[in-house]
Amino acid sequence: MQNEKVALFIIFGGSGDLARRKLYPSLFRLYQKGYLDQHFAVIGTARRPWTDDYYHQVISDSLSSIQAPTDQIAAFTDHFYYQAHDVTNSEHYVVLENLAEKLDQKYDLQNNRIFYMAMSPNFFGTIAKHLKTENILTTAGFNRLIIEKPFGHDYNSAEELNEQIRSSFTENQIYRIDHYLGKEMVQNISAIRFGNNIIESLWNNRYIDNIQITLSEALGVEERAGYYESAGAMRDMVQNHISQIATLLAMEPPVSFSAADIRREKIKVLRSLHIDTPEEARRNFVRGQYAAATVDGTRLESYREATQVNSESNVETFVAGKMEFENYRWAGVPFYVRTGKRLAKKETRVDVVFKQLPMNIFETISDEDKLSDNVLTIYVEPTEGFGLRVNAKRLGQGFETRPVDLDFRHSAAAAGNNPEAYERLLLDALNGDSTNFTHWDELSQTWKFADVVEKVWAETKPTDFPNYPSGSMGPVAADKLLQRDGRYWIYNPMQATPDK
Ligand code: BG6
Repeated sequence: MQNEKVALFIIFGGSGDLARRKLYPSLFRLYQKGYLDQHFAVIGTARRPWTDDYYHQVISDSLSSIQAPTDQIAAFTDHFYYQAHDVTNSEHYVVLENLAEKLDQKYDLQNNRIFYMAMSPNFFGTIAKHLKTENILTTAGFNRLIIEKPFGHDYNSAEELNEQIRSSFTENQIYRIDHYLGKEMVQNISAIRFGNNIIESLWNNRYIDNIQITLSEALGVEERAGYYESAGAMRDMVQNHISQIATLLAMEPPVSFSAADIRREKIKVLRSLHIDTPEEARRNFVRGQYAAATVDGTRLESYREATQVNSESNVETFVAGKMEFENYRWAGVPFYVRTGKRLAKKETRVDVVFKQLPMNIFETISDEDKLSDNVLTIYVEPTEGFGLRVNAKRLGQGFETRPVDLDFRHSAAAAGNNPEAYERLLLDALNGDSTNFTHWDELSQTWKFADVVEKVWAETKPTDFPNYPSGSMGPVAADKLLQRDGRYWIYNPMQATPDK
């Protein structure tokens, strides 16, 4: 088949939640589309002893939401092999290599190997080391390492982890996943900016007043509370996903649309990301934790009541803050960011707020006639598309203006065909395209930025936790953060007539 990719996948954490929820369905969709056909195989590893038959059942169960004939599923799962594996035991890697070689011959995989670390980051270093010392890295084909977050806990631990994996893999063999970079509308930021003169020529501090990035989630921490207790919203969402979105919004146009040129621009703009002083971090960042609430007759428990959460936990489930890029294009334009669990709605969006005109000539006609801010909204989820708020004349006698929303959203049918983030990213890794993965130089900078905030928070216990009810848009302090600058959050689902 023309598009067919050839590789052996070795998934560490093959019995885990990520593999079942994301990796197997994504590999199956690639299989259905012909990207994977005869010449691929997957070895799933984990500690527990499973048979191949049992593993095949786990995989077909993970595909239950996808429409497919049973014989197609069976043909797909036939490419999967299970290997019980203790990542610290050198002998187990010998067994793994024997199986890998056998599959390489059976499926004619040309020694191409993709190693996927889908397990606790504590073991990433050990695995990477053994892959090299036990000669599982091939010399004839390609070796690529896909690595899941969290990539470190702070700058120092991220650097240590990076050194460990770099002792076995070169930077261009490493694909660090940030699944937000696989989302359609996040990728679309580049198309909007670099494909439209009317947007890109206004894309600077002369015309833009502020940019707002909202990653709001309706769910609580659910079964991931154990991990969340050691992370919190800053590490879980701001250091990675939000910072990556801000980077794509702020970077200069790349020389070409190649991975190398895009990375160069991302790294360059991140060098201009202002690292707060502790004093500034205290002022520019707000943290929150959700309290219990009854929403639509159902009681939602507080964070502190969740299983595996310390009943006096001070971990933040909400962050709002201000990022600033100190460069010619962005000086003076705040990037307000906000994310949290158990907020009013699941909504991921970017609101680009333009400056007001130098004067409002309609004000003399009616005192009421204030011009609305022009806002470009990039809707990432649950709907995908753009909105542009402009002012126009109200129909009828007289001359009043009113804001009009020009909305372009993809139809449900078009969105249905849209590949899921992991599907895109797996295909990118198969193609050797690292554009939508994060480089160490990007991560190191965003960790330095997040570390300052984490440090000041660690020094002072929050006195008001929990400080926002489930189902709200976070603590009042998040609104005050913008009010202090004479601004407001464009997206506010709590308003009777929502802004958008
Ligand atoms: C993950 C976080 O990276 O992203 C989760 O660890 C969060 O806490 C998730 O829920 C959100 O992703 P999405 O794609 O559902 O917006």
